[in-house]
Amino acid sequence: MNVKLLQKYNKPGPRYTSYPPATFFHDGINVESYQDMLVQSNHQQPENISLYIHIPFCRQLCYFCGCNTTCYPGDELVSRYIDALIKEIHSVSGLLDTDRPLTQIHWGGGTPNSIDLSFVEKVMKELLSIYKPVAKAEIAMECNPAYLEPEHIDQLAAMGFNRLSLGIQDFNEEVLKLVNRRPSKYPVEELIARMKANKMDGVNIDLIYGLPGQTPASFQNTIEKAIAISPDRLVTFSYAHVPWVKSAQMKLEEIGLPAPEEKLAMFETAYNLLTQNGYEAIGMDHYAKPGDELSVALKNKKLHRNFQGYCTQETTGQVYGFGATSISQLQGGYYQNIKSHKKYIEAIEQNGFATEKGYELTREDEIRRTVINQIMCNGFLDFDALAKELDTGVAQLKTITGYNPEKLKPFADDGLLQIDGNCIQLLQNGFLVVRNIAMEFDSLLSQGKGQYSKTV
Ligand SMILES: C[S@@+](CC[C@H](N)C(=O)[O-])C[C@H]1O[C@@H](n2cnc3c(N)ncnc32)[C@H](O)[C@@H]1O
Ligand code: SF4
Repeated sequence: MNVKLLQKYNKPGPRYTSYPPATFFHDGINVESYQDMLVQSNHQQPENISLYIHIPFCRQLCYFCGCNTTCYPGDELVSRYIDALIKEIHSVSGLLDTDRPLTQIHWGGGTPNSIDLSFVEKVMKELLSIYKPVAKAEIAMECNPAYLEPEHIDQLAAMGFNRLSLGIQDFNEEVLKLVNRRPSKYPVEELIARMKANKMDGVNIDLIYGLPGQTPASFQNTIEKAIAISPDRLVTFSYAHVPWVKSAQMKLEEIGLPAPEEKLAMFETAYNLLTQNGYEAIGMDHYAKPGDELSVALKNKKLHRNFQGYCTQETTGQVYGFGATSISQLQGGYYQNIKSHKKYIEAIEQNGFATEKGYELTREDEIRRTVINQIMCNGFLDFDALAKELDTGVAQLKTITGYNPEKLKPFADDGLLQIDGNCIQLLQNGFLVVRNIAMEFDSLLSQGKGQYSKTV
């Protein structure tokens, strides 16, 4: 893939971590809608339960951050937040069939390891007393290595955690300084060795390209270092610049962001180096070793995608979110909690739920969601097979997705996909512009809700 081609397709678009995107969530959805859907979700597929716990606190705020988080508000408020989480867990669990298999618990944020691990233990004890994890359940936490002690890894392993993700962002300390972030407190190799010693089988690292101070050459060093460390998975996020949502990002404009062609060259360097050194590209930004379940799922056309990124449905079922700003991702819709952690605590203390907005899917939305997931995850679409699976006609499927082969012609001419009758197959480079291709099947997009970051 050459940089010119990437540039041609580099325009604003959704990341499709949900369909429809979160910009379509509205406040017509409330606590009662969520309670109804919780009950219904017991009879919907997938049957397996995933739990997402959001910790909206960080010890220091990075200027680039696009996540929902705030500066650590002190132990007293955090303790109240943890009690609210536990109360919400009980409210939701009261409406769920807790005999359904639990396949995943994911702690995200913010920074889950910014709080004392005794709080994490308290919540985990509660969860594990209610739900029944399957033997290979994935129990994961996103960690900031600036605050991760080797002993924390032992403690997390003792609580059942078997997958940790380390937010490295860049190994270059000058870059980290510019974006108000501290480097890992311990050598990352040491942290990973400790995870392996604790029999954790999933080690992921997050990197970002497109930050001030980064150049294609400096980012190449970071990728080489990452390859030497050899995590099971690696994510190279394209820095999403959305200062209209996150005003702190304006600081990065003042410092100076790399030019678009430099950013694309960083992407290209990372892609080439990783795929030449034992990693398989999963979608646009994830990389995994060939034996990893994401690589296997991609080969078997069984990959899925949600707000946490690429996943498989064996591991990720219907997702029940807890905590401020968390999103439950159920078969029938999305339900998001209040963003402010203080207002979340008050709502939970008053009535046990804190749903603020969301989106319930129509049958047409469900069809578009399936088609867009197929494109985003598996890079393949067979209208005949899908029409059968969705119990509809091929013509209807095409109308609902606004399908028009003419719109795909530029991608075909650029060698990014092939159309063969009713089948569309992305070619290797097609995954690099997969968001743009998915947009051609999104007939809701023209309703133009919200602004998006650029696709590359
Ligand atoms: C919740 S954080 C991970 C845990 C921890 N807070 C940390 O930073 O290490 C999730 C990830 O989102 C990515 N991220 C945050 N802001 C971003 C942005 N504006 N554009 C792209 N990726 C971003 C970072 O790579 C980060 O590791
Ligand atoms: S990137 Fe991570 S540590 Fe930095 S502010 Fe965002 S959530 Fe916090």
